[in-house]
Amino acid sequence: MINAKKDISGGSIISPPAKGIRGTVTVPGDKSISHRSLIIGSIASGVTEVDGFLEGEDNLSTLNAMRLLGVKIERKEKNRVVVNGGGVEALREPSDVIDCLNSGTTARLLTGLLSAQPFFSVLTGDSSLRKRPMKRVVEPLSRMGALISGRREGSCLPLAITGRRLRGISYRTPMASAQLKSALLLAGLCAEGETIIEEPEKSRDHTERMLRIFGADVGIHENSIKIRSTKKLKGCGIVVPGDISSAAFFIVGAAITPESELLIKNAGINPTRTGILKIIELMGGSVKMLNVREVSGEPVADILVKSSKLKGIDIDGQKLLPAIDEFPIICIAAAFSDGTTTISGAGELRVKESDRIAVMAELLTSIGVEVKENEDGIIIKGIGCHQVKKSVIRSHGDHRIAMSAAIAALMSREGLEIDGAKCVDVSFPGFFNVLESVRAS
Ligand code: S3P
Repeated sequence: MINAKKDISGGSIISPPAKGIRGTVTVPGDKSISHRSLIIGSIASGVTEVDGFLEGEDNLSTLNAMRLLGVKIERKEKNRVVVNGGGVEALREPSDVIDCLNSGTTARLLTGLLSAQPFFSVLTGDSSLRKRPMKRVVEPLSRMGALISGRREGSCLPLAITGRRLRGISYRTPMASAQLKSALLLAGLCAEGETIIEEPEKSRDHTERMLRIFGADVGIHENSIKIRSTKKLKGCGIVVPGDISSAAFFIVGAAITPESELLIKNAGINPTRTGILKIIELMGGSVKMLNVREVSGEPVADILVKSSKLKGIDIDGQKLLPAIDEFPIICIAAAFSDGTTTISGAGELRVKESDRIAVMAELLTSIGVEVKENEDGIIIKGIGCHQVKKSVIRSHGDHRIAMSAAIAALMSREGLEIDGAKCVDVSFPGFFNVLESVRAS
């Protein structure tokens, strides 16, 4: 039996094969909702208790940022935080640069919030985040009156923000991006008049849902959102569901391995995030949502997945949007299916934590799967349920690539070596232990 064990010298791990994955798992809290609970809780008045908070590195970046902005946030026993918000006017000029590390959500949402605060702040990030596009938020915020300068004419971190009074605008976003939409909503919350944002397609709507729970005046009509300035947000209790983007690795793992039956408890099933369930079903997989309920304004369910013979399908941008973070693991599902999968309209994947189109093409090629990389997607020739040979996969520091490699390893003869596996801590600390707990060898 090959076990997931650390190779101390190289910082890499051997991720083992499996006959199936069986049993019950819970995945850590939703990353997007955890970020928002800290930010919105910080600008509300009173106490916000967050249960099921994701203690991933990305969310800890937001937590540290809000503390630097003067907010008292207590970390209680595992997965619980208490935010003592004093209203938006209680935010204070940070005494140092805010380091968002790898977290695009922290950087973009805070750019929106800080643009409207009466003080100076600077945001930076790690080498991956410093390459990612910020112009998409800087440009509309500037139209609202924001004063932001940054590298490459304000298109990259570090950004220096001289906060001031903003005015609401009406803006059609060039791409469906929840980070962009949320940045503008947070700026609009503090701006004069109304801010109206229209998206070409509906991106994840956790910000709108949570702002309403805290008492904000948010109007939603199809892909258009209207927000009016308010200082009256009220702290409240938030229960964070499990992250469907983390569940996705187990959903695909159970679907592609031959002897699997897995129950994933308490996963968020917000319709703007459930693309992975639809895509696996279209590929012929067996996924069932059980015990559907609503928690803190978000739909939640237990998800039952069984082994299936998957087949290749066509996935366009519209199908992919509610599964935007699942591109790497969808590529793994496609690799172990019969026939060809064509993914298109996925240009945004080139500017995620890594260039996920190029990195997945490299990963699949290295395990012997034939691919064709296109500018806005990839074509994958599935190998069915054949096992792949041992090889070394580079994560490129991208958490979702490392976890996708571990799922591909389930279908290998001797395991796959993952170089740079530690980055799973960005969104799923303990991932390898959870996988091991349900791995049938
Ligand atoms: C996120 C939005 C998405 C997603 C990211 C988290 C969020 O990014 O890929 O992992 O929490 O708002 P974009 O807004 O760039 O599409």
